[in-house]
Amino acid sequence: NENINRALEALRAGKMIQIYDSDSREGETDLVIPAKAVTYTDVKWMRKDAGGLICVAVDPVASKQLKLPFMADLVREASKTSDSLGEVVEKDGDLKYDAHSSFSLWVNHRDTRTGIPDIERALTIRKIGEITEESLSGNGVRFGNEFRTPGHVALLRAAEGLLDERMGQTELSVALARMAGITPAMVVCEMLDDDSGKALSKEKSKEYGKEHGLVFLEGREIVEAYLLWAGTD
Ligand code: 5RP
Ligand code: CA
Ligand code: ZN
Repeated sequence: NENINRALEALRAGKMIQIYDSDSREGETDLVIPAKAVTYTDVKWMRKDAGGLICVAVDPVASKQLKLPFMADLVREASKTSDSLGEVVEKDGDLKYDAHSSFSLWVNHRDTRTGIPDIERALTIRKIGEITEESLSGNGVRFGNEFRTPGHVALLRAAEGLLDERMGQTELSVALARMAGITPAMVVCEMLDDDSGKALSKEKSKEYGKEHGLVFLEGREIVEAYLLWAGTD
């Protein structure tokens, strides 16, 4: 698939692409860029042009090594000592479009002050890319030496079985990173529509991509390519 190849090339060059999950899921388009390549201009771009949450999706193997919990599990654990937390935590069937969310911790790098300015978020994001790479290269790293929670960048933990288990932009972006041979820590941010108050439609997202020279991928193309790639690797 020519589209996939163009996307992999862009990602290897540290450039942004777009991923639309599917009509039967969120029906949302995210701007996506490798964490290690992020500059503060990219953060500004995502904040102003996309407008959703700026999150970093982390590979399941790295997530395990870094001991990144699912936020819902943390809250469930904490609910043992506080009933109100048990009432609010995500339950089976809560999400209408998936089995569970991929949210993990919210973090700041320890070298940030408040953590929110574009320069500080970009630093936190790049450092997440670096620690993901280090953990996958077998270096024993301690996440808490470098990051603190709460913070201003949301980590997303990709499902253990990746695309076999879940087809959110969390897993779709990590699958692409694996195919591209780059560090599987990927920034994602939903594109929202300033006029309608809704997510930006697939058509408008595509238009935006055309204007800005971004490759636009759909979930099913990625799943198809990943199956082929995983089968031949
Ligand atoms: C975080 C989200 C986004 O939808 C993002 O695309 C990642 O989530 P998912 O993997 O569920 O699509 O909820 O802002
Ligand atoms: Ca979502
Ligand atoms: Zn999504």
